[in-house]
Amino acid sequence: MPLPPTRTRRLLVASALAVPLTVGTLAPGTVPAASARPAACAAWMDPRDSADERAEALVAAMSTTQKLHMVTFGDTPPYLLYYGTAGHVTGIPELCVPDLVLSDAGSGVAGLQIGTTTFPSGVAQASTWNTDLQREVGRVIGREAHRKGINVMLGPGMNIARTPYNGRNFEYFGEDPHLAAEMTVPFIRGIQDNPVIADAKHYALNDQETDRQTVDVRVDERTAREIYLAPFEAAVTRADVGSVMCSYNRVAGEYACENEALLTDVLREDWSFDGFVVSDWGAVHSTAASAMAGLDLEMHAVPFATPATPVFGAGGRYFDAASMRPALASGAITRARLDEMVRNIVRPMFREGLFERSTGTSLVRYLADVSTRAHRRVATRVASEGTVLLKNRGDLLPLAPRVAGGRTIAVIGYAANPVGAASTTAGGGSSHGSGLPPRTTSLLTSLLARAADTGDRILYAEGSSVIDAQLIASLADLAIVVAADGSTEAADRNLSMQAPVCASLLCLNLPVDQERMVEAVVAANPNNVVVLDTGGPVRMPWLDDAGAVLLPWFGGIQHGESLARIVYGVDEPSGRLPQTLPRSIEQNRFPRAAYPGIGGVARYSERLEIGYRWYDAHRASPLFPFGFGLGYSTFRYSDLTVTPDGRGAVVAFRVRNTGDRTAAAVPQVYVEAPRAAGSPPRELRGFTKLTLRPGESRTVRIRLGERAFSQWSVRAHDWRITPGTYGVRVGSHSRDLPLRGVVRQG
Ligand code: BGC
Repeated sequence: MPLPPTRTRRLLVASALAVPLTVGTLAPGTVPAASARPAACAAWMDPRDSADERAEALVAAMSTTQKLHMVTFGDTPPYLLYYGTAGHVTGIPELCVPDLVLSDAGSGVAGLQIGTTTFPSGVAQASTWNTDLQREVGRVIGREAHRKGINVMLGPGMNIARTPYNGRNFEYFGEDPHLAAEMTVPFIRGIQDNPVIADAKHYALNDQETDRQTVDVRVDERTAREIYLAPFEAAVTRADVGSVMCSYNRVAGEYACENEALLTDVLREDWSFDGFVVSDWGAVHSTAASAMAGLDLEMHAVPFATPATPVFGAGGRYFDAASMRPALASGAITRARLDEMVRNIVRPMFREGLFERSTGTSLVRYLADVSTRAHRRVATRVASEGTVLLKNRGDLLPLAPRVAGGRTIAVIGYAANPVGAASTTAGGGSSHGSGLPPRTTSLLTSLLARAADTGDRILYAEGSSVIDAQLIASLADLAIVVAADGSTEAADRNLSMQAPVCASLLCLNLPVDQERMVEAVVAANPNNVVVLDTGGPVRMPWLDDAGAVLLPWFGGIQHGESLARIVYGVDEPSGRLPQTLPRSIEQNRFPRAAYPGIGGVARYSERLEIGYRWYDAHRASPLFPFGFGLGYSTFRYSDLTVTPDGRGAVVAFRVRNTGDRTAAAVPQVYVEAPRAAGSPPRELRGFTKLTLRPGESRTVRIRLGERAFSQWSVRAHDWRITPGTYGVRVGSHSRDLPLRGVVRQG
């Protein structure tokens, strides 16, 4: 039976670079109104039936051709050329199956989409430590996706920042699996509050961009479970994520997309995942082996990918009918497995309401501006709550709202002007938004907009000339220097700063020495604020001379507005580090065999000792520790009680705001396992974020579940509590934990 797309669409897309012209009409494959539905669909179109029942009924009615159609992105046009999306599977109108329309990703509806909101990137979201806000971010991104006709969002990215050098760490939630899981769950729920399926990626152990298509990761079972798989487990078991993306790399010698241990044993059997596994783009290397290992949907390579272009996987087409039919005929792929693949795909489509509410995309939707003021307000809030105040000598920040006669403020740096800000809001690669229409707020324009109220005068220099930077810094009452560092998919980074211009896929470096620029400014004026728009840690040789240091990471389109609010104290930079900042590239440098690997193999020989776990185990002092962030006030922690509660415990303590500003505290709870557990010295197991007025104090209660005291047993292949006395430490960050308690387990 011939399948969509219709002839009209094919012709139109073949000739169009960007968008097919299906103005005003519903694209084929979108959901017909109930009255217009083919009668044949009735058996699976009753929303009162469970997703399982509906999936069962639909698959039973499908022909082999229709089933094969569902398991691959087999339609033209390819990557980005279909309304700017990353890929799609055309629907089957006669069976009421809507188009599956996939788009990146974690910081907003990206790719070549226009009129969407670019939020701060993943590492900045994690820095908020605000799970309610994270739900809102997911919800808004899902809403924008839905309005665009997109129904699969290819995020969140939840790989762990194993080293500071991974070029994609900016997309992820930092170095700690508990924090990453806590930020992942509300994000997925928020997306799936809409008729949109979220996608947990990149599964798994995809922790470096050097050799990203091929690197073979060797990791011990316990480390894999406790560190790298934990956020995915939460995505499946706590957030009901509808899809999981298998990654480019190999694990224990097998490509992730044909790795039965990962895709079937862990994902399906241990975690009961019932959605679909989609491959990363071009990450498939076989037909029967992948299908039988647990891959459900292939997204093949983009047409311009070759083994020499590292951005995309150069894998071929393995799930198209030409490859699948012989495999089915020979029994290499069983009929039962094909049915299961299709059920896995349509089950979350039913569950998330795609059959009832998907619209399909169209030119009208493509052109629609779905970024509302309210959405951008959420982005501003995330930018402010995700900005970490690393230093604030003499409470330099925030500025008093106004002073008699006004102040002269020098703003320095390419990234502070509107053009620079627009190209440094995000890292490069698939998560990068189109930036259209151009509405990124810059620090310069946001400060100028306030100048009438504040009475302050603003001077600006781009910073490419150190002399100009120094001159205007020395003339001003306060100098703010904004330095940007590039970070991109397909390339790892180091700790030195480069000024980037990020297009969708790549960041190009400008020939501006950002480090010298900052050094010149801090030397010229002690009243200085250094702002670091970076995707990860950078060297800070100028730190001693810095007045204040703000780390907003990649701050999205509301970055400039958020910074201006932070400078004047309208918003508090209430972020806390989701990642340790090392003193130098030498500190905690992995042996080559561990990173980036030798002979294509990366051995995770550090085992559980990544990030603060290593610093604590080796009593090393980082530049800034995990969980750190000053904010605009100070807090006192007291009165800890730890009460056993089943196989968990309830931790209660008081937090008092001891400063003179209303501010957010982020109390953190770490557990110290008994020596016999073989765990790192302490591990984050709970946190919350609360706002307190000056002098206000509140009792905080955090329940630690059984998992907070469990270790992965390689003997039982399961979680076990090592019996003994567990320490419970509470405080403001991983190196400031004044409260100590204990609880016995087992
Ligand atoms: C990236 C994925 C992304 C996909 C589609 C790949 O190169 O690794 O994260 O979702 O492209 O754009």
